[in-house]
Amino acid sequence: MLKLDQLRVPLIQGGMGIGVSLGNLAGHVMLEGGLGVISAAQPGYREADFYQNTIEANLRALEKEVTKAREISQGKGLLGINVMVAAEDYDRYVNAISQMDIDVIISGAGLPLELPSLVGESKVALAPIISSAKAAFLLCRRWFSRSQRLPDLLIIEGPLAGGHLGFSWSDLKEEKTQDLASILEEVLVVLKDQNWDIPVFVAGGVYTAEDIQNYLNQGAQGVQMATRFIATHECDADIQFKQAFVNAKQADIRFVISPSGYPGRAINNPLVDTLMRDEKVKVKRCVNCLKPCNPATTPYCITEALIHAVKGNVQDGLIFTGTNGYRIDKIVSVKALIEELFPSEVSA
Ligand SMILES: Cc1cc2nc3c(=O)[nH]c(=O)nc-3n(C[C@H](O)[C@H](O)[C@H](O)COP(=O)(O)O)c2cc1C
Repeated sequence: MLKLDQLRVPLIQGGMGIGVSLGNLAGHVMLEGGLGVISAAQPGYREADFYQNTIEANLRALEKEVTKAREISQGKGLLGINVMVAAEDYDRYVNAISQMDIDVIISGAGLPLELPSLVGESKVALAPIISSAKAAFLLCRRWFSRSQRLPDLLIIEGPLAGGHLGFSWSDLKEEKTQDLASILEEVLVVLKDQNWDIPVFVAGGVYTAEDIQNYLNQGAQGVQMATRFIATHECDADIQFKQAFVNAKQADIRFVISPSGYPGRAINNPLVDTLMRDEKVKVKRCVNCLKPCNPATTPYCITEALIHAVKGNVQDGLIFTGTNGYRIDKIVSVKALIEELFPSEVSA
């Protein structure tokens, strides 16, 4: 059971790997009364034994980041970890994460059909990310029939999101994807028809206080936002990574292939140019990060590319962004951003 009434603002700061949302960003979002999220995508990239003992390094780093977020937040807000279904060793990560001092596991990049059985007796709340009403229906029905439980929260991620996108290449390119508001409408109908009482948050392209209000008026209980939180002082990425958003223009936001099999969206740079010319970037080492990736045939190593980016190498790195990344024009504090986004909740 997720205690959403502990949130001062109906906000989830979306999980961002690799290393973009760790304990510092999540803790400051919590301090302002939101739900902060640490990404479980290779959080151990700064650990000395990352390339030798990847899983151990990642789990150790996650424990440290959870402690840090809890310290910063001073008991406010809620804390989650985002873990991708497409991650290699997903089951082992989920099992370990379910024992950590967090309120919720958020899971997408694939349908987390087995999530309830993987957390066993843990009391941690579960929030799947879905991109259609059909997926919401299938998932809830499966969870209920197999584990007699429903999601504690559903996150609908639409086509304007950052990171990996749950839509086909052709639909995205031809702009044939369903928009977030209409997916929300259909999901709310499914939940009502089935008598499933599940709070719904929406994600992908949510940018202003007005956007948020529109989704709340439509029946969402809150929003998940990621891209805007990159341009905060507290975001865990290097300043050059943040600055790439300040510098980006609309034409710089492009689709990019990913070894996950899902399309992604990124800020254009020499790496994206190379990949979109169908050229490969030689893989030097592999930490087995994604189930669908074959290191022998992959066009590039996404872990190396994301680590370059978060460390500030914005030429060779992969800079994932939501569709609105180009609208960012300055770096602000988490407090100022949340005050801008939720003027009435913050002043209440
Ligand atoms: C840099 C970046 C990294 C991301 N990494 C992840 C991730 O590791 N797992 C995941 O489920 N979603 C990831 N996302 C998606 C976000 O959590 C979020 O749902 C989405 O970007 C929301 O749209 P917005 O960025 O327009 O607010 C990422 C997004 C960005 C911009």
